[in-house]
Amino acid sequence: MDRIRLTGGYELNGTIPISGAKNAALPLMIASLLTDEPLVLTNLPRLTDIATLARLLAELGVEIEVLNSKSEWETLTTRTEGRLSLGADQAKRLAGFGPDAKFRPGGRTLRLTAKTIESTHADYELVSRMRASFWVLGPLLGRCGEADVSLPGGCAIGTRPVDLHLQGLEKLGADIELDKGYVIAGTKGGLAGAEIRFSMPSVGATHNVLMAAVLAKGETVIENAAREPEITNLAECLVAMGAKIDGIGSSTLRITGVDNLHGAEVAVICDRIEAGTYAMAAGMTGGDVTLTGADPSLFEAALQALSAAGVTVDHTDKGIRITRSGTPLTPVDIVTQPYPAFPTDLQAQFMALMTMADGNAQMTETIFENRFMHVQELARLGALVSLHGDRAIVSGVKSLRGAPVMATDLRASVSLVIAGLAAEGETTISRVYHLDRGFERLEDKLSACGADISRLPG
Ligand code: EPZ
Repeated sequence: MDRIRLTGGYELNGTIPISGAKNAALPLMIASLLTDEPLVLTNLPRLTDIATLARLLAELGVEIEVLNSKSEWETLTTRTEGRLSLGADQAKRLAGFGPDAKFRPGGRTLRLTAKTIESTHADYELVSRMRASFWVLGPLLGRCGEADVSLPGGCAIGTRPVDLHLQGLEKLGADIELDKGYVIAGTKGGLAGAEIRFSMPSVGATHNVLMAAVLAKGETVIENAAREPEITNLAECLVAMGAKIDGIGSSTLRITGVDNLHGAEVAVICDRIEAGTYAMAAGMTGGDVTLTGADPSLFEAALQALSAAGVTVDHTDKGIRITRSGTPLTPVDIVTQPYPAFPTDLQAQFMALMTMADGNAQMTETIFENRFMHVQELARLGALVSLHGDRAIVSGVKSLRGAPVMATDLRASVSLVIAGLAAEGETTISRVYHLDRGFERLEDKLSACGADISRLPG
């Protein structure tokens, strides 16, 4: 297994191109199940989660083509004994490894065509690797009236139930049973519009139910829908495919079902979590970094927290410029909450920044009950953090020291990179596969700005 090795103490100076958002790309790829016409997606990041989902979609009957460097469409899926699949080498390519290994700004363009749905079975082997795979349930039900989908896995950051997904789909008329770890869902005569009120705004349940509702008969109202920008990206994609959705960007979505959707071309929005992560890395090391393609309107709460900590944030025509000179970081308390508040996916990174603040800062995590696993690894680097239920109190220290540490989930892993960039001496991070799920060529992007960081093949 690969490891990341880094030696801390270098300022970051330069430019980091921000990739397309993983958490927007995944539901957009799944939306291809809703039509027999091609869905073209641009600005897709090269990540293992993209490859995992592409493998699952291929098994369901989605043909996947990539626009190659000669501007020609190249088919990635193959058919053996009548079954479509995506081979290991092609999956590696989508993940950004193999011959494509260097970071290239601009992202990938994929064409996904689900001419016919060949299977409505989403197997444990792939769904357990990544929670977002579970979101194929809604569109399969909408288009085929049946699906059996394994209960999901994903980062171990809490119990992460799917009750809201299932309740929403049941309201639309799905009959749902749980059997041997699978959700077996069917409809008698198709889905029908309904009024659904989520007890809490769930990103995944909103994606899943929205994709089912666009093909249901009549009007669906989703109240207390999540409002994350990735949901807006999906809703706008669905509208481009012919869906009728009002209230996009708000917590009430009104959907009027249509008989069919058609093909479209849609761009994946920039990754606000990746941008926020590099902003915090630059705040941690000091220096002057421009995040090209970053859209500040997508993560204002995080940028405000950075400014309050003493990091200078300027909006430029290219993106966001982050600068910090020698002054110590000011402690800032944060509370994670649904969008537009401070995102849970940046909590670990902000905690890493606060480990060197001049005083105590409180991090309150209200979204996931087990999202402090980075604390014990940050402690190995010399951080002082105490845990009190859903709160962590970070007592800033003057310096951190490099050490071997272990990545425990995607965002926790990158908080160790941020701390390691400021620590004295060498830090090695094992279980880097967590990072590869969601950060495209992290070591290339950081070393281009002066970090001493490299990948040690395992
Ligand atoms: C999405 O996960 C993201 N994943 C997560 O990012 C992100 O942390 C999370 O939203 C919150 O912003 C993707 O977009 C692929 P939720 P999701 O449903 O959809 C509870 C990353 O690092 N809940 O909004 O799984 C749940 O337990 C990942 O990229 C229920 O109780 O999150 C949690 O406490 C990690 N019942 C809260 O809601 C349900 O049926 C929010 O979860 C569904 C959720």
